[in-house]
Amino acid sequence: MPASFITFEGLDGSGKSTHLRLAAEWMMARGLEVQCTHEPGGTPLGDGIRGLFLDPNWEQVEPQVEALLVFASRRQHLAEVIEPALAAGTHVLCDRFTDSSLAYQGAGRGLTRDWLAALDQLATDGRQPDVTLLFDLPAEAAQQRGQSLARRQQEGGLDRFDIESLTFYRRVRDGFLGLAKASPERFRIIDSSQDIDTTWSQVAQVLDEILGDNKP
Ligand code: TYD
Repeated sequence: MPASFITFEGLDGSGKSTHLRLAAEWMMARGLEVQCTHEPGGTPLGDGIRGLFLDPNWEQVEPQVEALLVFASRRQHLAEVIEPALAAGTHVLCDRFTDSSLAYQGAGRGLTRDWLAALDQLATDGRQPDVTLLFDLPAEAAQQRGQSLARRQQEGGLDRFDIESLTFYRRVRDGFLGLAKASPERFRIIDSSQDIDTTWSQVAQVLDEILGDNKP
């Protein structure tokens, strides 16, 4: 069985990044080679683009420009990190990928599916993950957990998405759920509204299922 490209998706505050770290530890404890990475970013150029993408000083950013930035970063990420790791037999765990663009720039900002699909084709040749774990919880709960604005401001400032409205995040959540419904063979929905252990047991079950034949 070849190495798997597994993505972790969900709202800010959904717990996806915590569970990505736990998943990497779980896999490495089983002797698997794992590369953890993230978007936007994941390469020196991509992390530069990430800084531009999230900078709250840009007052008016066209949604198309947001998408172009993040897909530029993604192309570099695929070429420099993701494809070489997979070719070397290393599993790739990626915090966000194209589904985030479809949910945030599509459902959130209103870009059409056709426009984003055309850009995806140009930028990534339509590259898809093998499996996507969607950490799902209501937008209100995600906001309370991850986006305590006062706390984030203290920790180093708010980015352009931290200041978005609850209505925006509700659209993004619905966007993610719509994507999962459209591709049930790729998505696994993880109910992340509960405590960390309950969420982790669902993640471990998925890992067991997809890596079952791939354990040493
Ligand atoms: P991320 O680093 O996952 O932030 P956090 O750790 O706060 O969840 O992503 C930063 C922001 O970028 C996040 O609000 C979602 C947004 N984003 C998009 O809008 N489109 C994209 O394609 C990606 C990858 C991220």
